[in-house]
Amino acid sequence: SAAEKGGHDYFMLKEIEEQPEALANTLRGHFDSGRIVLDEQRLSDQDLRDVDKVFVVACGTAYHSGLIAKYAIEHWTRLPVEVELASEFRYRDPVLDRDTLVVAISQSGETADTLEAVRHARGQKARVLAICNTNGAQIPRESDAVLYTHAGPEVGVAATKTFTSQVAANYLVGLALAQARGTKYPDEVAREFAELEAMPAAVQKALSTVEDVRALGRRMADSKAVLFLGRHVGFPVALEGALKLKELAYMHAEGFAAGELKHGPIALIEEGLPVVVVMPSPKGRAVLHAKLVSNISEIQARGARTIVIAEEGDDTVRPFADELIEVPAVPTLLQPLVSSVPLQVLAAEIARARGYDVDKPRNLAKSVTVE
Ligand code: AGP
Repeated sequence: SAAEKGGHDYFMLKEIEEQPEALANTLRGHFDSGRIVLDEQRLSDQDLRDVDKVFVVACGTAYHSGLIAKYAIEHWTRLPVEVELASEFRYRDPVLDRDTLVVAISQSGETADTLEAVRHARGQKARVLAICNTNGAQIPRESDAVLYTHAGPEVGVAATKTFTSQVAANYLVGLALAQARGTKYPDEVAREFAELEAMPAAVQKALSTVEDVRALGRRMADSKAVLFLGRHVGFPVALEGALKLKELAYMHAEGFAAGELKHGPIALIEEGLPVVVVMPSPKGRAVLHAKLVSNISEIQARGARTIVIAEEGDDTVRPFADELIEVPAVPTLLQPLVSSVPLQVLAAEIARARGYDVDKPRNLAKSVTVE
């Protein structure tokens, strides 16, 4: 009913709007006198100190959250992090031993590929830490440590609030590792707690774009294909934006690292092709920002219709943006939490305008329990 959907046309929009609360709930209770605590911890501090390599395994949207985690965990801990699709990981004979930490990310906690990856890792004596949204699901039951995302139940098949909650949970894992092992950046790690806690309010601000983005989505409903570009943490955001559009609007959508454009994808650019660009902060990552501005000017010159997600007040990007969506300024690593919001809304609204069931896209199940 409309009441269950909080007055919205579809659950997904309600769940998009629940993200500030989902984030706050995911962060709550994990800081104890400045230290990160997990929900279930069957690993000692010594185990965490012995870790010499991290694998992140997951599928779909959860995999994209893992790609984002890599930037933070490697930076804070100097541990090498590999992010891998669960379905590829276990058939590849990955190098694992007792000093390997495998982070398994799964909203449902029942995804067959991820569960089998966990079993394979444990069979090789690796330690497994699960990030999961479902209490007592199989993946957390079979893991050595668990951090729950407290996003609440997600009805829409397309992941939204569970994705941003996974990103926050991944950062908590990175901070927990940094605390147990020491970090080259103690000030930054200490600051990160406060910065994370400020995110629910920032995401609330990002939600003020919803109606404009919905209107934009309706104008884009007849597009044949959409490209998504980003750099650094904006690259996984672009991949996730493209996945959302595929699964909901049944449109051809691809995410690319913007630096790859000239290595191939620029050949796809033609008159009127919508290209969504996820901009980094002009202050936080000035070099990347300048590179992306030059990428946008190149594709615009070739006729692309540029849809730019940028930090509010980023005036340098304005001349190159056919459509500009402004999100609040936040630290670089946390940008995916705000820049994902308009991409979720865009996919949902294009799908709705095309007459599709946003909450139940064709051929998809909420939880994939077969390999
Ligand atoms: C995302 O919108 C999809 N629902 C899908 O990609 C999902 O993230 C994937 O199947 C993994 O599911 P899990 O998090 O429950 O393991």
